[in-house]
Amino acid sequence: MSGRLTVIGLGPGNADQVTPEAIRAVTEASFFYGYKPYLDRLELRQDQTRIASDNREELARSNEALAKAAEGHSVAVVSGGDPGVFAMAAAVCEAIEAGPPEWRSIELAVVPGVTAMLAVAARIGAPLGHDFCAISLSDNLKPWELIELRLLAAAGAGFVIALYNPISKARPWQLGRAFECLKAILPGTTPVIFGRAAGRPEERIEVFLLADADAAKADMSTCVIIGSPETRIIKRGDKPALVYTPRSATGSRK
Ligand SMILES: C[S@@+](CC[C@H](N)C(=O)[O-])C[C@H]1O[C@@H](n2cnc3c(N)ncnc32)[C@H](O)[C@@H]1O
Repeated sequence: MSGRLTVIGLGPGNADQVTPEAIRAVTEASFFYGYKPYLDRLELRQDQTRIASDNREELARSNEALAKAAEGHSVAVVSGGDPGVFAMAAAVCEAIEAGPPEWRSIELAVVPGVTAMLAVAARIGAPLGHDFCAISLSDNLKPWELIELRLLAAAGAGFVIALYNPISKARPWQLGRAFECLKAILPGTTPVIFGRAAGRPEERIEVFLLADADAAKADMSTCVIIGSPETRIIKRGDKPALVYTPRSATGSRK
């Protein structure tokens, strides 16, 4: 008997940014697996069960959830933001690939959510208006040398770069090092957005120039967006400045 597993994206942390599809998926599942702060966002019924685990246990959590679904239950795995962006959907796929053959017949659905870079971008203008990429600064699952290579390649090719997982207690130096790398090839006047806790009551969105960007201003709830040489700041008197990247690019090096 194979059940169903739904990987649900809960958005950046604002109830208004949870999609109707995610709300419906929550009502339909019986067992919920996830990191406790994400499970805390759910209002579950008495007949629904939550199983919380630590945020570095994605694979173990996926295995448990798949085993439960394989027993015939309707199971949900929840993620902040979008579950396919540095989150649980990939962990579930890894578990399916490495797991017993019967896990491949579990009905699997991935419900998208508003990812952090989109929530941050929407609060400041349109920094992702032209080509962009997303890079996780966590070197838990890849070597730092590869991260530096990707940062330099992305900046050198003119992409706006959204940095996820910029800093943590266990990874205190990575964001500062990333800024140093980028300063070598981007103008010091490149806008850098620190988008902290977008959509939540403690939200703080700040804009600096790359030359002045201070890694200490970021924390685990921050998504840092680094502009391309085309990205501009529009000052608007007493209204917050807009940061945007025009839809066109010439391709000429500045
Ligand atoms: C493990 S990743 C998960 C990303 C998530 N799946 C998403 O799509 O947003 C965690 C990182 O996402 C970013 N993040 C998550 N929620 C955020 C928010 N509300 N505002 C700013 N950044 C956020 C931070 O960079 C954080 O370190």
